[in-house]
Amino acid sequence: MLDPDQTLARIRARRPAHALERDLYCDPGVFQADLDQVWYKEWLFAIPAAEIPKTGNYATLQVGAYPVIIVRGADREIRAFHNVCRHRGQRLSAKPCGSAAKLVCPYHQWTYDLDGRLLFARDMGPDFDAGQFGLKPVHCRNAGGMVWICLGEQPPEFDRLQGILQDYLAPSGLLEDAKVAHSSTIVENGNWKLVIENNRECYHCSGSHPSLCRTYSDDPLMTVMEGPHSASPEILSHWDRCDAAGIASRFVNQDDMQWRLARVPLMNHAESFTMSTKAAVSRRMGTIPWNDAGSLMFYHFPSSWHHFLPDHAILFRLLPISPTETEVTSKWLVHKDAVEGQDYDLKALTEVWLSTNDEDRRVVEENQAGIRSPAYQPGPYSPRQEEGVIHFVDWYCRRMTDRLSPQPQALAAE
Ligand code: FES
Ligand SMILES: [Fe+2]
Repeated sequence: MLDPDQTLARIRARRPAHALERDLYCDPGVFQADLDQVWYKEWLFAIPAAEIPKTGNYATLQVGAYPVIIVRGADREIRAFHNVCRHRGQRLSAKPCGSAAKLVCPYHQWTYDLDGRLLFARDMGPDFDAGQFGLKPVHCRNAGGMVWICLGEQPPEFDRLQGILQDYLAPSGLLEDAKVAHSSTIVENGNWKLVIENNRECYHCSGSHPSLCRTYSDDPLMTVMEGPHSASPEILSHWDRCDAAGIASRFVNQDDMQWRLARVPLMNHAESFTMSTKAAVSRRMGTIPWNDAGSLMFYHFPSSWHHFLPDHAILFRLLPISPTETEVTSKWLVHKDAVEGQDYDLKALTEVWLSTNDEDRRVVEENQAGIRSPAYQPGPYSPRQEEGVIHFVDWYCRRMTDRLSPQPQALAAE
């Protein structure tokens, strides 16, 4: 098991534009460093706000060692807390989601308001000060209808992305008039970085994703993997058309490529990720005037990628479980008044990405199995096809190097 210094040495020794070495995908010490330096410090997409539309609705998730609960308060605000009772530490809820008037610990019934204040604790004596035992908050933002959390004490800057999400998701109704039509959670037996790497390229798509390839181009120019200047004439004219309709669509990103948004057309005026290539939901989500407006693609390292289409949205969240296990949750959002069986058929809505997720699970698991071999040697990424993977690996290595390197102050004190 590598310690943080050994992890840093492995990262520093990497060859640029090459896959990482085996330990960085398998070792428990590296996994712990990933949790400590990335997952416990970055903003993470948690849930769509539409999943907890009413006061008292809550959802839970597990980020490494941290159970977290996200709750809609009586004031409509969404807050996140450590899902850990302030008495003896019981999880307040073990369920993935639910609804409650108050948050009552199942162990000894300490009772918390939806804003985290401790309201009631039986027989704790006259000197007990309930004001000292509110739930511990977790940083939480609602950006364009997406709920984000950060476990770090000092969360990274988020205002710019929040503003951009507000603008780019406005044509999708800010996801406020949405409901979760379907949710799927799978576990992939692969390191979280392999899951992201696989997501950031479509080099594998033609060989792995027959149903997705009906509508989604595997040409990197068509999916603006490399940046706004690589966009094809078709993309550029799509953005002009969207601009004229007031729909934010152009490539926008963080300088270090931690996130990127761009709306791209699907192939041959396909309307949605369906086998028929037609819209899956007859009632559109927001105000986009055409069925063939394509997908607003949004990814954010380390944990999520998303597609916002005129008729539905799909939000993908990954969470690391162990060095070689990653949970992937997909949620399909549709207009809140869309009726299953009438406005949409659930199978037609979900089958392409359910298949694609399973196909990706298999490639990630086989990738992990090969990397375990002592014969594994990191190979070069394709500069044309895997630019997005290079962006991710560079981002990860930079973050880890910055955070694991001895600070100048510490050096001076030595
Ligand atoms: S641990 Fe929660 S009430 Fe005792
Ligand atoms: Fe894939």
